[in-house]
Amino acid sequence: MSQIFSRSPGSALPIAVNGDGIFIEDASGKRYMDASGGAAVSCLGHSDPDVIAAIKDQVDRIAFAHTSFFSSPPAEQLADLLIDAAPPGLEMVYFVSGGSEAVEAAVLMARQYYVERGETERSHYIARNLSYHGNTLAALSIGASRNRRAAVEPLLMPASHIAPCYPYRDRQTGESDREYGLRVADELEAEILRVGPERVCAFVAETVGGATSGVLVPTPGYFVRIREICDKYDVLLILDEVMCGMGRTGTTFAFEQEGIAPDMVTVAKGLGGGYQPIGAALVSDKIFTAIRDGSGAFHHSHTYMGHPTACAAALAVQRAIRDRNLLDNVRVQGEALFRALTERLGNQPYLGDIRGRGLFWGIELVADRVSREPFDAALRLDKAIMAEAMARGLICYPGQGTADGVGGNHVMLAPPFIVTGDQVVEIASRVGDAIEAAIEKV
Ligand SMILES: Cc1ncc(COP(=O)(O)O)c(C=O)c1O
Repeated sequence: MSQIFSRSPGSALPIAVNGDGIFIEDASGKRYMDASGGAAVSCLGHSDPDVIAAIKDQVDRIAFAHTSFFSSPPAEQLADLLIDAAPPGLEMVYFVSGGSEAVEAAVLMARQYYVERGETERSHYIARNLSYHGNTLAALSIGASRNRRAAVEPLLMPASHIAPCYPYRDRQTGESDREYGLRVADELEAEILRVGPERVCAFVAETVGGATSGVLVPTPGYFVRIREICDKYDVLLILDEVMCGMGRTGTTFAFEQEGIAPDMVTVAKGLGGGYQPIGAALVSDKIFTAIRDGSGAFHHSHTYMGHPTACAAALAVQRAIRDRNLLDNVRVQGEALFRALTERLGNQPYLGDIRGRGLFWGIELVADRVSREPFDAALRLDKAIMAEAMARGLICYPGQGTADGVGGNHVMLAPPFIVTGDQVVEIASRVGDAIEAAIEKV
């Protein structure tokens, strides 16, 4: 028996031994089409020669130098590349080793920003239901994932949650998408006033909802209204693009499509594409300046922040995406994937909704298309779909709790940016087969 304390103790996993392009091969020689990039991580596919060469080159020079003493060429170049891609105002990059660390740093940095300004009462965070922001304590506190929070609830810090932007379930009859979005955005203002504006630090949201909500795309005008409300009460806007950022939705940052910019944005998964663990928070000039000219230090650090080998890998991944124009492919194949999914699943009785952007798609499943009644949560349809997909050589990302945190099911697809037209058709076909086989079995 394996000695690894795995995510699901007791369940045996195949052993991944090789990867090429959008495929992973296990120790028995079975090949899997990686249609979700793991969890929206592998944006460049597996075993890209340029990234491998960049990692080897960095390790040959120096694998690690501690950031108390040194910076490194790949960290400097990666920071420049990210800031060049970001809108004016986002000027500095804080490197960490993953998504939760990025969110944790952003949340704590928001608090320190207000402390530097003497507004020490500000310690309350507002986030959204059905959100996921990671597993460290601050990230868990602002996230809404019930099962992850349950056992540790007494340890969490104060945060409150407003409605997500979820038109499929919450839009009222007669309401346009825009009207709906403005209505739920206005919940932020109501919540700030309830808590007291002088007590609120930041509003944190995934620009496009991910793992727990099955890819929630904001309605037109939603984030413009959110930005206005944050500005009105001097509340920081932190966008969590750990999953949806770095090109996944067809633009480097998902917020570019919303016509706004946040005060901080967190990125991770697609930043290093899985070649190395890395995350970052991009920070606005006003926050950086307040800290630099105030106490002079962000009181927060990790041993592996700005790790040279991780930065070298991420730099090579980001250069590959830029130099090979892969975001064009994200947009083209994203549309093709939507068409293929609609063709394969559109008329099926279990299909609730297909939603997404770029190469980031969620398929919401329902027991009844008219009432939108979810499947019974006790059936664990998510686990059944995962098993059926793996049996068919497909890696997808099923989730449960989509509708209200407990019930509701979705399947998330986030293939690598190199996916081809033939492959998206194959993905749609295999995911349809897996869903149908799972529904039949549960
Ligand atoms: C939006 C979002 N934020 C944060 C995280 C946490 O990232 P990590 O698992 O790298 O710690 C995730 C992971 O799925 C995520 O989707």
